[in-house]
Parts: sequence; structure tokens; C-alpha cells
Amino acid sequence: MHSLLFQMMKHINITAKIDVCDYAELSPQDKSAVDAAKEATQTAYAPYSRFQVGAAVRLVNGTIVAGNNQENVACPSGLCAERTALFYANAHYPHAAVDTIAVAAYANGDYTDKPITPCGACRQVIVEAQSRYKHPIRMILYGKKEVYLVAQITDLMPLAFAEF
Ligand code: THU
Repeated sequence: MHSLLFQMMKHINITAKIDVCDYAELSPQDKSAVDAAKEATQTAYAPYSRFQVGAAVRLVNGTIVAGNNQENVACPSGLCAERTALFYANAHYPHAAVDTIAVAAYANGDYTDKPITPCGACRQVIVEAQSRYKHPIRMILYGKKEVYLVAQITDLMPLAFAEF
């Protein structure tokens, strides 16, 4: 009975294509976004985790806005770098679509070897910016040894709740 049911079921297989490269292979435009994210790590307020994250949002008009994680002694009151940067961009440039978000992390005196990937709450917020501006948001996740290139945020959050 169970195996018959299984055979009749349809399946949805979700795959995400993530390109892996290194910093040297990035376009000059993407290097600028990564550089801004790396620089932003240096002014993060992360006294509790000591994990400094920087994010740079590049708008379609070429403007780059950077932000970083801002922690708080009452833990949930802090905010990740991605949302700090994105909310600033949306507050100041509400009519400019977001094209790319670069992320870098700095811990124990150096940038991380591997890229870090945004938390679920940040993914949800970035998905909404993508649907709001009807423009795919690319992610560039920086690591010293490898960089992940994500063509659109929905690749990192399949089946997100969004009108698109
Ligand atoms: N953090 C970010 O800012 N972005 C991420 O993508 C992952 C985590 C922050 C939250 C917290 O301040 C610290 O990194 C440790 O989790």
C-alpha cells in the first residue's frame, strides 16, 4: 500500500546553481562591491560574537551602499549586515532596484577562507526586495579561497513566500 502510494506521487526536485570562482576572476564592478563589503566589516559592531560581517548593496544606478552587523546585549535586537545595508539602501533610494549584494566576513584577525551565506531572515528580506523591484538580486559571497556567485536570491531560498 505504502509503496504504491509512493509510486503515484509526483516529486518536486529543487536545485540551485552556484558558481564558484575566486576574487581575481570577478569583473571590476563585482570587485568594487566585494571591496566595499570587506571594508564594511571593519566598522561592524560585533562585541558579542566577534564575527564582523560586511554587506555592500549595488543598485542598478551603480550606487553602492554598505552596512555591517550591529549587535546588542539584548541579542535579538541586533541586525545582520545584509539587512542593515539593504534597509539603508531602500530607505535612501526607494526607487532604485537592487542589482547585487556582496557579503564578506572577518574573524580572528582575517577574512574567512570560505564564504558565509545569509541567514534565513535576511534571505526573506532580500527575496522581498527582488519581488518589489522585479529585478533579480545577485549575491556575491566572498571568501579568501573561494567566492560564490548566486544568480538570484531565490536560488538560496526556494519556495519562499512571495508574490512574484
Ligand atoms: N551575521 C551577519 O551579519 N550576516 C550573516 O550572513 C550571518 C551572520 C551576523 C549576526 C551576528 O552579529 C554575527 O554575524 C554572528 O552570528
